Amino acid sequence: MDHSQAATVWQDLEAHKQKLGATTTRDLFAADPDRFSKFSFSLDDVLVDFSKNRVSEETLALLLKLARAHCIETRRDEMFRGDAINTTEGRSVLHTALRAPADSQVLVDGKNVVPDVHAELDLCFAFANKIRSGELRGATGDKITDVVNIGIGGSDLGPAMGARALSPYAVDGPRPHFVSNVDGADMSDVLSRLDPSRTLFLVSSKTFTTIETMTNAHSARQWIAKSLGETAVGDHFAAISTNIVAVEAFGINKDRMFRFWDWVGGRYSMWSAIGLGLMIAIGPENFSEFLAGGHEVDRHFVSTPLEQNIPVLMGLIGIWHRNFMGYAAHAVLPYDQRLGRFPAYLQQLDMESNGKRVHLDGTPVTSDTGPLVWGEPGTNGQHAFYQLIHQGTSVIPGDFLIAAEPHETGMGDHHAILMANCLAQTEALMHGRSLEEAKGVLKAQGLDDKKIDLLGPHKVFPGNRPTTTIAYRKLTPRMLGRLVALYEHKVFTQGVIWGINSFDQWGVELGKELASRLLPVVKGANVEGLDASTKGLVAHLKSLRS
Ligand code: F6P
Repeated sequence: MDHSQAATVWQDLEAHKQKLGATTTRDLFAADPDRFSKFSFSLDDVLVDFSKNRVSEETLALLLKLARAHCIETRRDEMFRGDAINTTEGRSVLHTALRAPADSQVLVDGKNVVPDVHAELDLCFAFANKIRSGELRGATGDKITDVVNIGIGGSDLGPAMGARALSPYAVDGPRPHFVSNVDGADMSDVLSRLDPSRTLFLVSSKTFTTIETMTNAHSARQWIAKSLGETAVGDHFAAISTNIVAVEAFGINKDRMFRFWDWVGGRYSMWSAIGLGLMIAIGPENFSEFLAGGHEVDRHFVSTPLEQNIPVLMGLIGIWHRNFMGYAAHAVLPYDQRLGRFPAYLQQLDMESNGKRVHLDGTPVTSDTGPLVWGEPGTNGQHAFYQLIHQGTSVIPGDFLIAAEPHETGMGDHHAILMANCLAQTEALMHGRSLEEAKGVLKAQGLDDKKIDLLGPHKVFPGNRPTTTIAYRKLTPRMLGRLVALYEHKVFTQGVIWGINSFDQWGVELGKELASRLLPVVKGANVEGLDASTKGLVAHLKSLRS
């Protein structure tokens, strides 16, 4: 990386921001009739429209210069070829190898990992087919009708998000369920709907030590053993992990263990055996389409010039918002109900990857890093929090996701209304409504001057609020693969510019350590050295327990 060039471009971007001054996105559209085509980029049927962000051609040129000063292409190639870029854990970062075609080559420590990836995928597919067809049954000979994935974080969010997103493809397989929280309510609510003789549990955990997952797995095991006997356990469990020893110790048969590798980060693992719950639900063919969509985006990321490279541009515009405009949050607003868990999935992908405060070399970062990522599907969000996005004092850039075609046919105007709302929101956020325009509307409604003066300011929309629209044909397995990979590479791009490690997650450790110290305390033991608040809360909670 060229530090001095990067610093110079950073200053140029600061100066450029000053120069943009009061120019609004509305002004930028007025000045350039080709703005939409200049700022929209395609990948097959996917169109990503950046034109409603307050960026000019000069802004993009400077941001691309910044990316080059940070050697984005070199960093990207290092990741794809298996260099140990996760330096704090000494690991390669190769989720891209999980979706690479069988004849490709990716070397880790001199060994091509692609044959292993495909061998494991074949084992998963064979198992999925046997469960789906009824060739593999429960201990009583009943067909498996319900599959419960027990996992948390990256071992839950991917398959859970995917199963919901792709439910139209889950037509002839068992029903998928997901239990993640150690709160017994999660497991209990799921089990209350299930019949043990027809239920398969997938214990998904990279480490196979995560307390939530292991606690839930043991409860599920007791549930099976209690109703079908201890000998039935083997027929009702499978495991997905990198920790074969711990899986064996739990008592899951070798032929029901599916592996992945330490070069797959938890939040990047839905492409691996961690996707088994999704594979069983939608079938191997659809899962292969999902992988193909991810690979398509990988090819785009490695071979498209930065100027048209969609994930790079997504990342750079995010840098502009976060570091130069000072926007602290980023909303993900799918106008696609089945992407209901996509914002939560992206929260882990983005915030666990880029919520960092030191550079790769351990020195403190000198600029803000990852934003707060959140969102809900439209149109529901419009009737809840969009008020703040339109008129609140914080500017929150948002991604709007919309399909041209729904899966549902014969439902009248539903999709047209959905689409109109999506487009209207981004138009309103960009365009806004001035005081003069607001007063004009009120006048046309026949209000008197006093009322107009009173209501006018409340009806003003500042506009100039940035949005990106991702428009695609239909939420197919391939499309979901593309979406996930686009955001993965966006997050990667931003991590490179911030000079941080996007692939570790030390920030989750302290809470885990303190929870194990507090467990005996909440169970009744006395422990010295608690802070007064924690001590007081423990005492209060204990006093309320019957
Ligand atoms: O929350 C921390 C974390 O390590 C995540 O990165 C990971 O996805 C999750 O816990 C679950 O970990 P495991 O798959 O090892 O159970």
